[in-house]
Order: sequence, then structure tokens, then C-alpha cells
Amino acid sequence: MTLTRGIGSVAEIEHWRSEFPIVDTCTYLVSHSLGAMPRKTADYLQEFADMWSTRGVRAWHEGWWEVGRETGNLLAPILGVEKNAISMHQNVTVAQAVIASCFSYEHPRHKIVMTDLEFPSNHYLFEGFRRYGAEIVYVPSSDPIRIDLQRLLDAIDERTVLVPLSYVLFKSAAITDARAVIDKAHHVGAHVILDVYQGAGAVPIDLNGWDADFAVGGSVKWLCGGPGAGYLYVRPDLASTLQPGFVGWAAHERPFDFETGAIRYAGAPERFQSGTPNVPSLYAARAGYEIVGTIGVGAIREHSLRLTRRLIDGARAAGYRLNTPADDHERGGAVIVDAPGGRAVADELIRRNVIVDYRPNAGIRIAPHFYNTEEEIDRAIATLGEIVGELAASNG
Ligand SMILES: Cc1ncc(COP(=O)(O)O)c(C=O)c1O
Repeated sequence: MTLTRGIGSVAEIEHWRSEFPIVDTCTYLVSHSLGAMPRKTADYLQEFADMWSTRGVRAWHEGWWEVGRETGNLLAPILGVEKNAISMHQNVTVAQAVIASCFSYEHPRHKIVMTDLEFPSNHYLFEGFRRYGAEIVYVPSSDPIRIDLQRLLDAIDERTVLVPLSYVLFKSAAITDARAVIDKAHHVGAHVILDVYQGAGAVPIDLNGWDADFAVGGSVKWLCGGPGAGYLYVRPDLASTLQPGFVGWAAHERPFDFETGAIRYAGAPERFQSGTPNVPSLYAARAGYEIVGTIGVGAIREHSLRLTRRLIDGARAAGYRLNTPADDHERGGAVIVDAPGGRAVADELIRRNVIVDYRPNAGIRIAPHFYNTEEEIDRAIATLGEIVGELAASNG
């Protein structure tokens, strides 16, 4: 693979398409949900299998034990952070639970503040912390697309411990003002856990520039890394002092001494580990990270904006309502089209080989990535129009 290609020209797009087998078989517009698998992922998984098969238990000391740190380091430039600050976990929920377990929730600083537009598992996880004394504050949004920033800022006060916040909202693809929330949280002594899942790989992320405390995400979507490779960034000054309660032997300073009793924490990032690393998932994730890193998120973003603008123009011309911000600076990588008959239309689009998804109270989510073309956007809009027309005719 050439290591210097961007994504501006037709030839470059064709080059990257050739690295993703699924795009030859359908119009794949669902990267906000499951990014396409890079061809190279199969090689990395084979490498994992060969290692297990030929080296057996020796594999732990011939690469497997370090694979978490190395995988995190591949992600570091994509998230705008230094090396050795990211640990790898099964998923976002686990990564957030590790951070939540670093704090206590005793009155008066016991509030966890978040908006009603968070991904559901953020609510589910933190609801569970009521039993440890946390008060959960949901900040209502005045519309289903954007958070109400001022209301959120006002709700963060001296009694706040944590603010879990999605950088890009899963239902609308709206980008939130992470910097403003982090600044307010710091002003009152609280910390923000930024969920960058719907942004990483599609929208530039600058965790260092934003002075982010913690960030979590996964690899299933825009990073094209597949399931089982969640990540946790902890700002180095916090990482050196925080002591997670949710830990396992992989977080010990000398895990292979198998000391019992209270843990002696490893340095960062291992001190945030739980148990045995998820080695096959970390091998699988590498190809997607390498490709995203090679193209560069800035170039991916430019291409993405070209395609999402085209989608928005097409959807508006057809008269559909959009549940996504129209302004480029406010929109992540997906466009949510609220066409009549939403779920049935999405099912029929998939049957006709245009792969999208549907979310209740949002609409049909359509998400081009660096391996998609303008022709595919036009095909999706045309197919959507045909289906809506056919449904209207059959109903009326
Ligand atoms: C913004 C956001 N956060 C979290 C999740 C879920 O993460 P996980 O399944 O890794 O816990 C999703 C999944 O779609 C998401 O969109």
C-alpha cells in the first residue's frame, strides 16, 4: 500500500475503495454504525492466529502483552494526544466504568451531569452509580438535534464530579462544543469524560488542545477497526494520581508476580487495564487505524463534507426533513433524513443494496466515508425517492 495517498482525486478514492472489499458489492453508507472492513484486517487476524498456533504461550512475551499499548499509540495522533496515554478495553461502557470508579460520590460533590441526547448506555451506566451516592442530573435539550449548551453549562457546578459528554451526537450527528464544557467543568473542579466515538476517524479531534481530562470511544464505526477495541484516554497528570477501583491483574505494577491483596498500580496507561487484553480485536483494529492515519482525518473530513453536503442538497430537493445540522461546522459524518415511512424505507433501501440504518425519533442515518463516491450519494437519494414514491402510491 502506498503510504502517502490522500483522498482528493478520483484515483485516490478508487485506490482506497480497492482496500475495502464490501464496497464492490453494495452502496455502503453505514460507517456511523459499522465501518467497512479493510482487506488488510484479514492478514492481521491471520498473523494473530499464526502466532497463537506456532508460539503458544510464548506469544504473551513476544508481542501480545504490549499489543494494548501499541494499539493505543496508533490511535494517539488521530485523537490529538501524546503516546502512552491510551489503554484499550472491550468497549466504551467498560472504559467509562473504569474512570467512574476513580471517583467517590459523597455529598456535597456527588453530581453526574449529562444531557438527554447521550447514547443510552451512558445513561444506563451512570444510573448505576446512584447506589454509590451519585445524583444523576439530566439536562433537557430544547430540540432533538442539538444539546442546549447554556443549560448544560449552568447545570455544572461545585457539586459536580463528572460530565459525560458525546462530542458528536449519535442520533443527529451534531457536534458539541467540547471545549466550552471542559472549561466550565474545570472552573468548578469537575471532570469531563468525552465520548468521541461518533467523531474519531471522521472529524478532527484535538484532545490536548481542548485540555480534555478523559476520552472514550470504540473502533467499530469511522475507524474501521471492528468490535472489541474500545479505548480510554486519560490526561497524563491525572493518570499519574488516579486509582481506579475497577481494576484487574493487568493493572498491577508487576502482574507476573501475582501478588495478592491490594493492588500496586502500574504507571499509565496500564493502570487503567482490567484483566487479560482482548488480543484478537486489537490485531483486527490495526488496519483501520493505519489507513485513517495515512489518509489523515483532515483530508477525510473534507471529503466527508463534500458528500454530506451533496446528500443534504439531494434530500432537501426531494422535500425531506433533515434531523442533522445543515451547517458544516456543526455536523459530523452522518446525515439523518426523516423521510415518510422511515423504518420501512430503510429496510427497503437495504434490500436494494443501499446499506443505511434507522433510529426511532431520528430517521434514516446515511453515512459516507472516504471510500464512498458522489455517484453513490446520488444513487442513494434516487433509490430513496423511488421507494418513498412507491410506498405513497401503494398507500394512497
Ligand atoms: C456515541 C456513542 N457512545 C457509545 C456507544 C456504545 O459504545 P459501546 O458499545 O462500545 O459501549 C455508541 C454506539 O453506537 C455511540 O454511538
